[in-house]
Parts: sequence; structure tokens; C-alpha cells
Amino acid sequence: MRTYPYTITISSEKGGVGKTTLATNLAIYLKAMREDMPVTIFSFDNHFTIDKMFELQKRNEEACDVHALLMGEKAVNVVQTGQYGVGYIRSSTELGDIHERFKGPMTLTRMLAESGISGIVIIDTRPDLNILTQNALYAADRVLIPVKDLPSLENCKNIFALFDQRGIDKKSLALLPCLIDERIKFEGIFKDQKTLLRAIAVNRGYRCMDTFISKSPKVESLNTNPDGKIYPILTHARGTDVHSQFMEVTRDILRSVDATKENRACLYHTWLLEKEAHKKELYLARLEGLAERCLICGALLAEHPDDRSFYFETSDRSARGFLHGNCVSNMLCSALYGLKEDAPTFDAAKALVADKSSKAVSLLFPRIGSELCRLDYRQFNMAGEQLLQKNVEMPGFDAGEFNGVHDRLYLLLNEALAGFEGALRKESWLSVYPVDPGNPEAVLHDESYKAIHRLQKHFAKEVTLPI
Ligand SMILES: Nc1ncnc2c1ncn2[C@@H]1O[C@H](COP(=O)(O)OP(=O)(O)OP(=O)(O)O)[C@@H](O)[C@H]1O
Ligand SMILES: [Mg+2]
Ligand SMILES: [Zn+2]
Repeated sequence: MRTYPYTITISSEKGGVGKTTLATNLAIYLKAMREDMPVTIFSFDNHFTIDKMFELQKRNEEACDVHALLMGEKAVNVVQTGQYGVGYIRSSTELGDIHERFKGPMTLTRMLAESGISGIVIIDTRPDLNILTQNALYAADRVLIPVKDLPSLENCKNIFALFDQRGIDKKSLALLPCLIDERIKFEGIFKDQKTLLRAIAVNRGYRCMDTFISKSPKVESLNTNPDGKIYPILTHARGTDVHSQFMEVTRDILRSVDATKENRACLYHTWLLEKEAHKKELYLARLEGLAERCLICGALLAEHPDDRSFYFETSDRSARGFLHGNCVSNMLCSALYGLKEDAPTFDAAKALVADKSSKAVSLLFPRIGSELCRLDYRQFNMAGEQLLQKNVEMPGFDAGEFNGVHDRLYLLLNEALAGFEGALRKESWLSVYPVDPGNPEAVLHDESYKAIHRLQKHFAKEVTLPI
């Protein structure tokens, strides 16, 4: 069965509020309190705290890092087993140039959904709201926002605004008072820092966790050691309040993990699959109702599948299908140049027509007057700009006469556009699109078919304008 990670992002635009301390220690507490649950951590910062804390041996320069993950490397190749049983991805100093690839805000959500990582993923972010932080925010089942004072609380509003802008539910967001100096007491109802911060937060409509993290000199000292290592609170600051506060935060997180049936990665992946399935359905529906024969030569396309180089569709969409490249070239050559097939210049003219029509859309609009029948023939490029317009007289067309020059054209028009009692459907026309003969059905795939429909709409307007 496929696995999806429950994702926790630690974010604050304010620097030095305790994000990295929270992210790294939370990973260790989670692993300690749920041994069988895989926990993976990585950071978008370039401080290498994660590496210093979790690396088992000396830095492995060969191993993949966060940059590789973001460039599309598979998660199995980038996650390494680290100290305390925590999986980690090496930090990178090269994330500055990655913005180009991360235009969309959901790229990381997709990457995590497709990563096959299970358990919990913790993402430590930089103190800003750049595109990587935004991706980490939207990918998260829970976002913890450490706040240590009023300025950091002020800054939170930008995160909430981001969610509002995109219409994303803000229930994943929660503030966590951090670096609280418990020696500071106030007079009145807001008796200390955390009570004051929580009151202001709640007043502004922000959810705030029940716990908080105290400021502790012991915890602060864990960063600075003669061996250059950073030690965890769990192993090196057990006697502090911060230790029990971390246990509390971890229990809170585990409760939400247990209560979540489908995490964001799973929901997003299901949504992607459904979208794909829907696209497939539409594609299959488009394959239905295609003409079985090439309307010019009358041959069954299934029997002669080669050289299906054009796709045609009528303005009312009631006739659609593929045409042979050779048949279209012959038809256009005769119709546009009035040449019979045995004319000495036919082959040269045909080569020219074939070349032009393979790069452009042909529009064929029979204008049937009481005196005269003519074909309004136009060529457009794929951007919808008209390249050519030509009026071709069609003698004998409405009498059903063939004259050896326009036969193929008359056949196509009659087959595609005939309505009641053989008369052409009023004001209807058809357009002929070049397709890749190696894979003609690709024209019915979502993106290319949408492009055709944009053009059909555009043509519908063009043909009503005076020439
Ligand atoms: N509970 C704590 N008690 C005392 N000091 C702490 C505590 N938590 C973190 N610190 C210290 O505060 C400083 C900032 O912490 P940390 O690096 O975790 O913050 P940050 O928000 O990740 O910073 P940045 O925005 O620069 O990434 C560090 O020196 C850290 O040791
Ligand atoms: Mg940090
Ligand atoms: Zn044909």
C-alpha cells in the first residue's frame, strides 16, 4: 500500500524565535515517544543545524541534499538514517537559485505525496515567506508558528494572509509561545509573557497551542560545545521545564497524527489521480464518434491507419475524424490551383501545398448562394492569425456534379457537412488540423484538444466578419 507522510512545518518570518530548536528536538521527541514511527527532517535554511545534530559520521559530500530533492530526486535517494533513529536530508547552500522551478505553491505537496515517505516529516524553514516557505506551509498538516514577543506575533498575520489569499483552510496553523522568560511577571490579569501573548493571539483569531516553551540557559548552551556538536534537550537537558514542555507538545502532535485519517499528502495525491482519471475519461469520450473512414478517399482508417496526418472537426462538432495526408494534399492542390492530377505541374504544386498545410490550420466554409457556390478557404497559424484567404468557385457543386478537379473537395464537404436531404447544414464549416502521423490521437489529449477548441471558437467569430 502507498504511504503518505504527515507533514509538520515550523515557520515564522521573525528570526531567532526558536524554529530550528523546535523542529530538531520535536523530531527526537516524536521518535522517542513513537519508536516505530519513521520521522524525517529537513531544513530550507543553510545553517546546517540539522546536519550537525543528526549526522552519524563525517559529512558525506557524495550524498544527495535538499537541493536534489527539490530538483526532483526521489526521496529514497536523499533521506539518510541519522542519530536517534531520525531520518534527515542534508541541508544545502544552493537553494537561492531554485525559485525559478518553484513557481507554483503546491510543488512540494506533490513531491511529498509522491515521495513514498511514511510517518512524519518535519520541515524547518527560513525566517521569510519565500516560495519555498510557502510550499512548506501549504504542504503541512500542521504549521507551528513560534512567537516569542509582540513583534513576532505581529509578523504572524502575513502567514494567515497567505492562507486567506489562496482560500486554504487555516485550521492547520497554530502559534506556540517560545523562549518565554518566566521570571517576567506583570500586574493584572495578564500575569506573564505567555498569558499576554496568548490573549493577544486569541483576540486576533489565531489558534494558540495550550503549551509553551520556556527560555532556559541550559537549552541555550546545547548549541555550543567543544566538539562542534549540537545536543538534544531529551538527552542533555532532562532536568529542565523545557523537557516536559516538549513532551507536552509532542503528545499534542501525536494526538493529531492519530486523529488524521487522510493527511494532506494523501488527499492531494487522490485529487491528482482523480484529475488524471477525469482527463482520461474525457479523452476516451473524444475517441468515440470519430469517423471510421477518411472522408476524402473513403478508405476505412482502421485498415489503412498509416498517414493519418490531419484531424478535422466541423463547426457544430457533429463530424470529426482523421484524414490521410496524401488525400488532403491532393484535394487542396486541385482546389487551390485548379489543377487536374495529370497536369505537369501537379506534383510541384502538391509539394508546396503539403508543406504549407502541415504547419497551418485550413478552414473550409462553403458559401452557397442562389447563383454561385464558392468555397471560402482560409489558413491560420496555431496562434489563430489568418495567413491566407482564397475564394474558390465550385461549379456544379449543388447539382452534385463532379468535374475531375474538385471531386475530392466536394466529397469531403458533402460527407462532413451534409444535413437534411443532402443539403449542407446551414452556416456550417470545417477545419483541418495537422497532427503527428506517429501519434495522431495525441491531438485529443487534454491540452491539445483545448487548444483546438480555443481556435474553433476564434474561427467561429472570424467567419462572420466580412472578408
Ligand atoms: N528554549 C530555549 N531556551 C533558551 N534558548 C533557546 C531556546 N530555544 C532556542 N534557544 C536559542 O535561541 C537561539 C535561536 O534559536 P533557533 O536557532 O532555534 O531560532 P530560529 O527561529 O531557528 O532562528 P533563525 O530564524 O535564525 O533560523 C539559539 O541560540 C537557540 O539556542
Ligand atoms: Mg532556524
Ligand atoms: Zn484518404
